[in-house]
Amino acid sequence: MKTYRAAVIGCGRMGGFIDNEVVGEPKHEPPYAHGGGFSACDRTDLVACSDLREDLMALFGEQYAVPKSGQYTDYQEMIAKENLDIVSVATHVEHHADIVIHAAEQGVKAIFCEKGMAPSLATANAMAAACERHGAVFNMGTQRRYHPGFWQMREIIAQGELGALQSLVMTYGGGLFDHGCHTMDLAQYLNGDIPAVWVQGHAPQSEPLRDGYVYRDDPGGDGVILFENGVTLYLLCTNRYEYQANCEHGMVGTFNDSLDWVLRKGDARSLRPAEFPTFPRQSTTVNAIMDLVRALDTGDPPRGGVESARHGVEIMVAILESHLQGGKRITLPLRESNLRMHRTDRDAWQKGLRWREPKLTV
Ligand SMILES: NC(=O)c1ccc[n+]([C@@H]2O[C@H](COP(=O)([O-])OP(=O)(O)OC[C@H]3O[C@@H](n4cnc5c(N)ncnc54)[C@H](O)[C@@H]3O)[C@@H](O)[C@H]2O)c1
Repeated sequence: MKTYRAAVIGCGRMGGFIDNEVVGEPKHEPPYAHGGGFSACDRTDLVACSDLREDLMALFGEQYAVPKSGQYTDYQEMIAKENLDIVSVATHVEHHADIVIHAAEQGVKAIFCEKGMAPSLATANAMAAACERHGAVFNMGTQRRYHPGFWQMREIIAQGELGALQSLVMTYGGGLFDHGCHTMDLAQYLNGDIPAVWVQGHAPQSEPLRDGYVYRDDPGGDGVILFENGVTLYLLCTNRYEYQANCEHGMVGTFNDSLDWVLRKGDARSLRPAEFPTFPRQSTTVNAIMDLVRALDTGDPPRGGVESARHGVEIMVAILESHLQGGKRITLPLRESNLRMHRTDRDAWQKGLRWREPKLTV
């Protein structure tokens, strides 16, 4: 079996060391960081890495056996020299587009890009166009769509025992671009990645963050979203992660950030608790990587894909546009929007002038 040559760009928390922060958290099955994911996967060889910080790369190299000769401060040089099959992008949201577009243009065939995909609709569109033009498969990490519990949840909905899916009530914490994107992605996944047709938004908490078209920090907001199949998503910013799928003859959901799984069957007012099927504990990062491996092996589309990630950004931008237009219903596709997130402290990160020290266990 072919082994694919992989590299990580951005060797910080999600790239290299986040497992040290989540030790013992029951919802996490390690490895969570991209470096750990590639190391654990027997179909990938982690041959190179890139970060602006040489000291961080040295630690990453020690942890994941990437030799000094495979450590690059310039990711473009790394891509030119290393003949890579899979590139993962674990820099901050504002810095994803340049790297993803460059990798696709240089012929990298699989890209594993961290959430949130992009800080604006224009950058998400440009990333999707580059991947599609150059035939690069793309998964956005590390999302609940790679979690076996949510595979079960989608299967319960799809096989129809509960009748047709009618609505999704789903919550998230923080802002839309960097955190709500987890929930947005899951909503799309549970509904079969069917496109949305219109969006209405209410996002008062985003207003203090906005200068004209630019948000200084990640803007939050609530939305009502109608999908082509008639399913309505109620997306709420509550600072919790709770997901409820309401069907004609029951509901299936998870509460307490994917720790409590609930299945209830019956009619309108007499739902009976039923057992949620068991599922294996698996690393969602390894599952996302293995999904790219499968796509490279077979030529079949990945479980995520660039269009679902792009469409998620489109919906979230439409929530903000709707809010700014007094709650007006925004019909999709939304061709363009000037709204974007620009956290100025991330400029220093991109120049290597600022960083978070990763938590280390050694
Ligand atoms: N899926 C999840 O649950 C999850 C959790 C945490 C973070 N994330 C995502 O991971 C991404 C990174 O976040 P983090 O918390 O790991 O950040 P971080 O600051 O710990 O790491 C980012 C690294 O990128 C490097 N970098 C910046 N520009 C670069 C460039 N041009 N070339 C090479 N390296 C560069 C920085 O030096 C830094 O070391 C973000 O998109 C974030 O949203 C996802």
